[in-house]
Amino acid sequence: MIDAAYIDIGYLFSAALFILGLKKLGHPRTAPKGNQYGMMGMGLAIITTLVKLEVETGIIGWEFIGGGLLIGSLIGYVMAVRVQMTGMPELVALFNGFGGAASALVALSEALERINVGSSDPATGIPSDPLTLWVIWIAIGLSALVGWMTLSGSILAMYKLKGGVSIFGKWIRTPTWGPTWLNPIKVILLFTVFALIYLSAIEPGNTDYVWAIVGLSSLLGILIVIPIGGADMPVVVSLLNSLSGIAAAFTGFIIGNSVLIIAGSLVGASGLILTFIMCKAMNRTLLDVLFKSFGGSTKETVTRTKMGSDADEVAMMADGAQNIIIVPGYGMAVSQAQHQVKAFADLMAAKFETEVKYAIHPVAGRMPGHMNVLLAEANVPYEQLIEMDEINPEFPDCDMCIIVGANDTVNPAARSDEGPLAGMPIMDCDKARSVVFIKRSLSVGYAGVDNDLFYEDKTMMLFGDGKEMMTQLNAAIKEL
Ligand code: TAP
Repeated sequence: MIDAAYIDIGYLFSAALFILGLKKLGHPRTAPKGNQYGMMGMGLAIITTLVKLEVETGIIGWEFIGGGLLIGSLIGYVMAVRVQMTGMPELVALFNGFGGAASALVALSEALERINVGSSDPATGIPSDPLTLWVIWIAIGLSALVGWMTLSGSILAMYKLKGGVSIFGKWIRTPTWGPTWLNPIKVILLFTVFALIYLSAIEPGNTDYVWAIVGLSSLLGILIVIPIGGADMPVVVSLLNSLSGIAAAFTGFIIGNSVLIIAGSLVGASGLILTFIMCKAMNRTLLDVLFKSFGGSTKETVTRTKMGSDADEVAMMADGAQNIIIVPGYGMAVSQAQHQVKAFADLMAAKFETEVKYAIHPVAGRMPGHMNVLLAEANVPYEQLIEMDEINPEFPDCDMCIIVGANDTVNPAARSDEGPLAGMPIMDCDKARSVVFIKRSLSVGYAGVDNDLFYEDKTMMLFGDGKEMMTQLNAAIKEL
């Protein structure tokens, strides 16, 4: 017979591993270790829970647990192996949704079981006192609210990040729609769910309340995410991440699992911190993001034209530059140009002793730290990756700014008061002495706003795939 103290020790160690993992995730160099600690913590938590179930109840549905672990691991493995770097944000959004769904389903099964057993604890059969019962029902309701909202919101967010959904071979763009009258409806819906949670706690045998909470919470998730578009998606994805943790913490409370409370609170708190970092980066408040709808992602039609340059011309310009700032964006991720970008920087430093720096915008790409991860993969030293606030004062003294697949994050339209980018801080590339854009066309970025910087006299457009153009540029520089 295993002493119950060992179970507490198991949970304590897994909680410590989660905290250590989170700390290591704070820096790109230690992040892989952080991930490993997190995995070990989760593995230990699963084993401890199985032992706990065996000790306390002697009943373990091995066929369900084994089957679930096998199927889940297989799906996770296939998804992780097949996903492209550019598909990571969608995968993260989907995982947030799955996290919310897992918590919501545990809350649902607990609710239905409690309705069956009346006022007793379903695990022990011991009658619960009225206050405990009341608190548990409130926790079940809150877990359902946050969990279902996270699931529906995350699935919609995933399709928004993907750009649309394919139905019978037809590509349908995910809509961004948010009239102002939707805001009071969202608030009314939220308070209706609160009222239903209260009713379910004072009348615990009624399944109608439970199903109404499930339905309205899912609807609320969709209504919260549908107006969000343009530059605000990063905020909503990290908010959903935080909500998935909060749902897990509620669920931990319902089933009396301390490690789930700790892990859920860690995800909830760190997700919330990230949400506020993202808000700060976008120069918005969370309430603005949720209720103001900067969204509107209808793509503007570009009517102006601009001549393109070629790699030889850009190479000759680069030859005369004493310092160069590279600004990477989503297009670098799509084309996987990071190795050629690093080769360019090495070449410039070796051949012309040019000082090359990388300017990292907090929401460049499609997920937090997207550019850092890609450039770290190409072995760019961390000290060369400079954050926006630190690098912006350097642009007026910069001879050449090379923008590789970035658009919204360098778009001066963000300095105006209107449009999806309004107020978002940008890289001050337009202040550099010369600017080179490497992208395939004059088309807009994620927020759908035309970029005036393309048409400035000092701007050269190197049209083409990021990797292909960087390869041509490197070849041209070698020949100089
Ligand atoms: P974007 O504004 O999205 O622009 C990317 C540009 O890359 C496009 O204009 C596209 O132009 C170009 N491109 C695409 N494929 C390319 C390829 N193969 N080779 C070369 N260029 C290519 O990128 P950004 O400046 O990084 O801004 C990120 C945007 O995404 C922001 O609005 C941000 O709010 C949003 N967002 C960010 C996140 C996070 S957390 N980072 C999450 C969700 C949304 P062409 O088609 O002409 O090539």
